[in-house]
Amino acid sequence: MKAIRLGDTAPDFKAKTTIGEIYFHEWLEDSWGILLSHPADFAPVCTTELGILADYEIEFTSRNTRVIVLSIDSLETHEKWIADINNLYNVEIEFPIIADEDQLISRLYGMIQTNEYESATVRSVFIIDPNKKVRLMLTYPASTGRNFYEIIRVLDSLQLTEYKHLATPANWELGDDLVILPNVSNAEAKTLFPEGIREIKPYLRMTPQVFKEDSLTELI
Ligand code: BEZ
Repeated sequence: MKAIRLGDTAPDFKAKTTIGEIYFHEWLEDSWGILLSHPADFAPVCTTELGILADYEIEFTSRNTRVIVLSIDSLETHEKWIADINNLYNVEIEFPIIADEDQLISRLYGMIQTNEYESATVRSVFIIDPNKKVRLMLTYPASTGRNFYEIIRVLDSLQLTEYKHLATPANWELGDDLVILPNVSNAEAKTLFPEGIREIKPYLRMTPQVFKEDSLTELI
């Protein structure tokens, strides 16, 4: 199977999930999407990840982003595990979890990496834009829980590029200055960024971040 690369159309699939049967592209509608795999239900690190993900759901919905999770466990196991996580973290998991028992989706997305793990998914992350293009891919080992602040940070960065002609420098966090994309001319930059442009070098131009009046997170 051909490896997925950035910019590819995210492969569509039909899946059994905890919210019923879905067709991936149809389910995404016009939203951004994050598809995450984990090695196994009822595993300790995976449990912490899903508890945190449920707690951060508002961060994703406020960024017009739908979250969907996958493992090769059954729907029945997912349901029991969700009840446990909801109880443990005082959350309500609302995002769907795919039961990929036949491993078709895992293999389509290269989530089973047999050198690491014979027959379970590693911790993959795919961010997909509203045109269904793959915009980020991350792969973590089973023993390392993901940093969801980082995933939200990349999502913010991608959306700033998509909607505002901006990029984000190393170690950027919300509120820090932003980099003006190289394909924006100086004349265009003056119109696009009335808050000011700081030219450190002709090829390195920064502008301050401007938030919507009543929101710290809504960049778009
Ligand atoms: C875990 O989720 O805790 C885990 C799963 C597989 C290997 C190591 C840790």
